[in-house]
Amino acid sequence: MTPSTPFPAEPAALPGWRFSVAPMMDWTDRHCRAFHRALSARARLYTEMVTTGAVIHGDRERLLGFSPVEHPVAVQLGGSNPADLAQAARIAAEFGYDEINLNVGCPSDRVQEGRFGACLMREPALVGDCVAAMKAAVRVPVTVKCRIGVDDQDPEAALDALAEAVVAAGVDGLVVHARKAWLQGLSPKENRDIPPLDYARAARLKAARPSLPLAVNGGLKTLAEVEARLAEVDGAMVGRAAYMEPALLLGVDPLLFGVPAPAADPFAAVAAFEPYIAGVLESGERLHAVTRHMLGLFNGRPGARAFRRHLSTHGMRPEAGLDTLRAAVNLVSRDRGDARVAA
Ligand SMILES: Cc1cc2nc3c(=O)[nH]c(=O)nc-3n(C[C@H](O)[C@H](O)[C@H](O)COP(=O)(O)O)c2cc1C
Repeated sequence: MTPSTPFPAEPAALPGWRFSVAPMMDWTDRHCRAFHRALSARARLYTEMVTTGAVIHGDRERLLGFSPVEHPVAVQLGGSNPADLAQAARIAAEFGYDEINLNVGCPSDRVQEGRFGACLMREPALVGDCVAAMKAAVRVPVTVKCRIGVDDQDPEAALDALAEAVVAAGVDGLVVHARKAWLQGLSPKENRDIPPLDYARAARLKAARPSLPLAVNGGLKTLAEVEARLAEVDGAMVGRAAYMEPALLLGVDPLLFGVPAPAADPFAAVAAFEPYIAGVLESGERLHAVTRHMLGLFNGRPGARAFRRHLSTHGMRPEAGLDTLRAAVNLVSRDRGDARVAA
């Protein structure tokens, strides 16, 4: 099986960089990532953002613990103090993460007050110092996820300055969410939709710096759209579409990596994922902690709504178990081939 388009080789240090699932707070927790892994063996997976303060002072096992099935998996850190980032990176590397990613894209007020996230687009020299400190602390790749600018910044100058600083600091890759963040007046949610997408800006950066591994993010809904972006840059990062329509991930390994998917269809993926869920239940967590990430799996098939409703109502109960999940799956029609996977 070969990918439908011959893609350039991946950076050796970043297997899976060609397709990654974006960091998403409250969404890409460890159970979500393990579930996504049942749908793609190759995609690179990102944690939710964790702040340096939480890593250094908080419950590390709860914040950073993950299952070995999740590799290759990157942790995303939020912070802007180089020494704290170095310490947090070292702790995360000891946990076994394959990559440390710095958030230079989150626009929330809380993050702005902490002077990190997207507002760091205005402080490229500081981001460079952060990357240099993290690079000195760990052997695993250090990457940055950024925007193309904030507010009234000129995206040509802002992204160039950011790239210049992080490349000089030895960054191993850059993920560009290809729109600005408008820090005044828009909610984080609006900041994921309203500022216009500009994939060409990311492509120009790649053309100017061919040796910098560059992935583009923002608004990609299908694997056909991903393939189009891969003509210009090394990687595509998909957030909401992967979470809302996880069956899309079943197409990633065959279409983008030239290897079979880990499961023939969403039904087989759920069956193969059962032992993981059984382990979660044994540890005392509720079924819902896992199945809340699975609600979109059968979207587009007859019975998908009944599946969602069954899990949402019964999955919360303390006694809910694999039988509850199987009952929900039995509400879905097996008749239809999954057209969305190849879409
Ligand atoms: C619920 C949610 C939480 C998010 N949390 C983070 C985060 O912790 N760190 C980050 O860099 N981006 C975060 N994002 C932004 C995504 O990583 C991504 O950049 C954005 O959704 C655009 O990609 P998409 O159009 O493929 O979803 C979040 C997005 C969503 C929807």
